[in-house]
Amino acid sequence: MFATTAVNESDRTIQLTKAGMRRVFLTGLALLLATGVGRAQQALDIVVYGATGEVGSHVVTEALQRGHRVFAVSRNPARVEMQHPNLSAVRGDLLDKASVSEIVTGKDVVILSVRGVIGDSGMPESALQFIAAEMLVDVLSPLGDSAPRLLHVGGSGALEVEPGVLYAARLPKILLPKSLEVEILGQILALEFYGKVDDVNWTYVTAPKNFTNGPRTGVFRIGGERALEDNLGRTRVSRADFAVALIDEAEQAMYPRQQISVAY
Ligand SMILES: NC(=O)c1ccc[n+]([C@@H]2O[C@H](COP(=O)([O-])OP(=O)(O)OC[C@H]3O[C@@H](n4cnc5c(N)ncnc54)[C@H](OP(=O)(O)O)[C@@H]3O)[C@@H](O)[C@H]2O)c1
Repeated sequence: MFATTAVNESDRTIQLTKAGMRRVFLTGLALLLATGVGRAQQALDIVVYGATGEVGSHVVTEALQRGHRVFAVSRNPARVEMQHPNLSAVRGDLLDKASVSEIVTGKDVVILSVRGVIGDSGMPESALQFIAAEMLVDVLSPLGDSAPRLLHVGGSGALEVEPGVLYAARLPKILLPKSLEVEILGQILALEFYGKVDDVNWTYVTAPKNFTNGPRTGVFRIGGERALEDNLGRTRVSRADFAVALIDEAEQAMYPRQQISVAY
């Protein structure tokens, strides 16, 4: 008896649910058509330093696809090849404080995805990643609550591979070009520097050991300071998926003032 009644009740429920679902679907479709499929709930003003680079160009594409306004910075904006109504190519140099200040003030998020070595001291302090981190904090800090958030694309050398041991310590120095060694150490220095910054909303989004040119899948894991390995012991993600993780963080601000990592 109970079973029969339950079946009848549930049949009715299924019919009601189907009608309800049809209404929800049609309302949702109308909303999507009105607002634009794939458009972000709230469009952000996102500055991308390194927009012409291998990682940064994916970040620009991802942000535009989600309906954000992107300010793609280059020392030579003619290098920004993409064209889009929400994209502005902006001339800027991270070594020039006035230019940085002018570009970032009033924006929502700054993404730092640059590389380089300044001068020939051979010291980690000469890595652009570290110099740029100091420069941006110097500019953002006085802006207080109105300062944009800062997402720093970090280096895999700053990931822990076992307790107390960074991946950088495992790299065969003899095979590394000197400039790359400076950048790897500069990225670790940048992370140490951010660790002391409590008046700027930063997130250090660490690259995996290997970037691939694979497609955007939208499926990856977010870890912390420890390298995330897949079941074959690899720590990797496509640049396109790394860009998804960065724009997720730009939109959601889930991990303020901490190091996160992205990998399959
Ligand atoms: N496994 C790993 O750990 C790993 C692997 C790859 C990359 N990464 C990290 O990912 C980030 C991006 O690397 P990438 O390979 O995409 O770099 P990339 O292709 O070499 O591009 C470097 C970017 O830096 C910009 N840049 C250089 N000097 C600048 C300055 N003074 N002012 C403003 N912009 C400047 C360049 O812009 P313009 O020349 O247009 O001005 C260019 O867009 C870096 O932080 C890098 O350390 C990590």
